[in-house]
Amino acid sequence: MACLVILLVMKGVVTSVLCHERVEELEPSIRYCLHKIGESKLQASELVHIGETEGPALDLFKAKLEAVMAEARSQQAASMTEFHWLGHRFHMSNAKTRVSILKAQELEKELHDRIEGALPAEKRLAVFDKIFAAYNEARASIRNDLATAGNSENIKDDLSGLDKAIGAVLGQWTIERNQLLVSIAKSKLSKARDEKNEKVTKPEELVRLYDLLLQNTSDLSDLLSSGRDRKEEEVALSQECEFNSLIFRAERFA
Ligand SMILES: *[C@@H]1O[C@H](CO)[C@@H](O)[C@H](O)[C@H]1NC(C)=O
Repeated sequence: MACLVILLVMKGVVTSVLCHERVEELEPSIRYCLHKIGESKLQASELVHIGETEGPALDLFKAKLEAVMAEARSQQAASMTEFHWLGHRFHMSNAKTRVSILKAQELEKELHDRIEGALPAEKRLAVFDKIFAAYNEARASIRNDLATAGNSENIKDDLSGLDKAIGAVLGQWTIERNQLLVSIAKSKLSKARDEKNEKVTKPEELVRLYDLLLQNTSDLSDLLSSGRDRKEEEVALSQECEFNSLIFRAERFA
């Protein structure tokens, strides 16, 4: 029964039937249910959908679910000792870094799992913001460790490699988010034309977004070209950046 309620809430079917006392009682069931879900084919990212469900009576329920998920995440993080990025593997010794990266990866999965359009643009933007927050959290703990790493070259190499990788991932997501903003602005622009309403999106707004895209693509490209021991995958992504930059330039001046 509890599992059914949890699933319905996740799917956004149930929005307001739960009262707080019940939620308190539900905690062991949520635990049990998450365990079952973990054993089944349902992905943990499904659980993130609960974030889309709204209703004041759900707040406590969500908080409980998030607490249980956080616990599950930190257990999972304990075994995630390496970050794999474009052919590199970086050791992660700090549990805080691992948990933040795992959180970001759950959110990324959430975005990728859902077909374009299934999640409204506004909600996609909100997930982007959470991804940025999680990676920035990871970055803060990496930089903190770097500052206190002393003279151990191995540790420092891993940390600065990680820092660069997270910077690049943030750059890629920033570009993706700006592309989404471009498509939102474009759809408003054509709507405005249809309705002869000039207020909705100004062409300058699009130009500004393309300038951001070009800037971020060039930053990412610079980051990828920095450092020694470049892997094939990194070179390939740099080339993709150059190609994208040509497209953005063409669109900006179109
Ligand atoms: C993207 O570009 C803008 C404008 O230059 C900059 O403010 C922002 O920090 C960049 N973001 C990333 C992740 O590089």
